[in-house]
Amino acid sequence: MSDLPDRPDFTAGLRILARLCRPALRPMLVSTGLAIVSTALELVPFVAFFLAIRDLLDGSADGGRFLVLALVVAVASTVRFVTWSWALKISHLAAFDVMADLRLEIARTLAQLPLGWFSRRRSGKVQRALTDDVQRLEVLLAHAIPELASALVFWVAAAIWLLAVDWVLALAALGLAPVAFFVQWLGMHDSSVHVRRITAAADDLHGRAAEVLRHPPVVRLFDRFGTITGPIEAAIDEAVAADEAWSRRYAGTGTGFRVLITADFVIALPVGVWLLARGSTDAPSLVLVLLLGAGILQPLERAYRLGFRLSWISYAGATVDAMLQETALPEPREPQPPQIGPVEFDRVTFAHEPPTPTVSDVSFRAEVGEVTALVGPSGAGKSTLARLLSRFWDVDDGSIRIGGVDVRDLHSSDLFAQLALVFQDPFLFSDTVAGNLRVGRADATDEELTAACRAARIHDTIAALPNGYDTHIGAGGIDLSGGERQRLTIARAMLRNAPIVVLDEATAMADPDSEAAIQEAISELVAGRTLIVIAHRLRTVASADRIVVVDDGRVVEIGRHGDLVDAGGTYATMWNDMRIAESLHLGDGGHVGEGRRVDERTGGGS
Ligand SMILES: Nc1ncnc2c1ncn2[C@@H]1O[C@H](COP(=O)(O)OP(=O)(O)OP(=O)(O)O)[C@@H](O)[C@H]1O
Ligand SMILES: [Mg+2]
Repeated sequence: MSDLPDRPDFTAGLRILARLCRPALRPMLVSTGLAIVSTALELVPFVAFFLAIRDLLDGSADGGRFLVLALVVAVASTVRFVTWSWALKISHLAAFDVMADLRLEIARTLAQLPLGWFSRRRSGKVQRALTDDVQRLEVLLAHAIPELASALVFWVAAAIWLLAVDWVLALAALGLAPVAFFVQWLGMHDSSVHVRRITAAADDLHGRAAEVLRHPPVVRLFDRFGTITGPIEAAIDEAVAADEAWSRRYAGTGTGFRVLITADFVIALPVGVWLLARGSTDAPSLVLVLLLGAGILQPLERAYRLGFRLSWISYAGATVDAMLQETALPEPREPQPPQIGPVEFDRVTFAHEPPTPTVSDVSFRAEVGEVTALVGPSGAGKSTLARLLSRFWDVDDGSIRIGGVDVRDLHSSDLFAQLALVFQDPFLFSDTVAGNLRVGRADATDEELTAACRAARIHDTIAALPNGYDTHIGAGGIDLSGGERQRLTIARAMLRNAPIVVLDEATAMADPDSEAAIQEAISELVAGRTLIVIAHRLRTVASADRIVVVDDGRVVEIGRHGDLVDAGGTYATMWNDMRIAESLHLGDGGHVGEGRRVDERTGGGS
């Protein structure tokens, strides 16, 4: 799984750009052709000027001829501007097409990636690829290609003409250009190192700043020792250092290039005067060479700016390309029809970072119509097991089956249709309550929304909001409490009507009251479904039909609450620890009622 292309060398970057921009080949050719015509017409005023001076100097000047020259210059200038604007119009339209296609293609690739690919670390890069990196290609297609092509054509045409007029003078005027380009190359050829460093620094700064901006209270309250802002300052320093290193590296050669391409007259003028004095050239030729020598500067200046951008563009292209090359979740060659039935983990082994397995040899069954609980210490691998079921990653060994069918033999859309997941961090979109619920099922009726919310014990809370189900929540709207959000995500999962529901720490954020409400919601949820519940708080799973105890990636016990407590193993130890912790807690009188109630429920339910 690659993140950023390691060090896209310049030519590889160009090859990638050529491939990405291939669909725009035809319009780009037309655009470049028009740009070349337009730039060639830039020579017309010089030619006219040359002819006029020659006429003036040899005394053959007459008004009619000047008028014709003036007309020719006027027409050429008009055509030049028209062709140039068409060239840019066509190149821009082509660029926008390519950008739109690339963005869609990246989106399609993202849609096919296993969910395990996405992480907070990557989200910044995905965002950058979709926005900034694709945008850089616009610069290449819309501006750089037509401008570079025309600059080169102008330069070559002017050079040929000058050589034809007076080759000695021409060489004197043009001689510095190759030196200038060599100096430019010296500055640019290893720029990818700097571009990579600057981009990485910017990414890092971006990510850290976004995190801090998202949680200002945490920063205010906890950052007395600079533990949070310290790394940001370091990131800023690195970003500045990266920019400085690049500037230092480039300052000399960049200035050298500009000086050299503007210095043509330094050689051409003395050489020209000397030739004129010797009688081996004439005044019109000298004026032309000096004028055109300065005119040639302009397109070279454009080429210079392009060279400066090209390493950024090719780096951006390589990032976009790397994103498009990511490996999709493998789909089965012959997908099996999905079956309703138990979820079976059969000797499942998986490593996040091989060779150390995160979970090893895990086997258990979650039956339809039952609650199966996964418990165990933090880091034991519970969430990993839940994610393996939804193919965030594929198992390294063993298999996971639903109703006897390996999840890898199901088409991913069939697999996802069977699953509803509620994660540790209940995520809601910035939208209305109803909008958030309909993420579960777009065509759900209002009655179905209400029914799901009643079952999830959240309906009354929603009804009390200013606009009921049409109340805007999330960013810019009303903030629901952690417990309310969790119940809302449970309602969303219920609405999905999926036969398998996985709740990962669904009650983690809840206060005792909403925890009880969530417990009730869960028991509503289980009817006819397979429910897998992951929890730290053992009370919330004590009534489960089956408790799977995971420790250090292995299943150490399976059974019902009472049997596991009696067995005196890992679960019993965890249970006793929890009771000791609770009795310490009870001292302040806070949770007495809640503790008793859950105990009663547990007694009645199991
Ligand atoms: N994407 C990942 N890449 C690498 N390692 C990971 C990844 N996700 C989890 N891990 C590691 O795998 C191990 C198991 O993590 P997991 O989240 O499954 O534990 P858990 O039992 O759910 O813990 P908790 O109860 O704290 O939620 C941990 O050591 C964790 O650091
Ligand atoms: Mg977890």
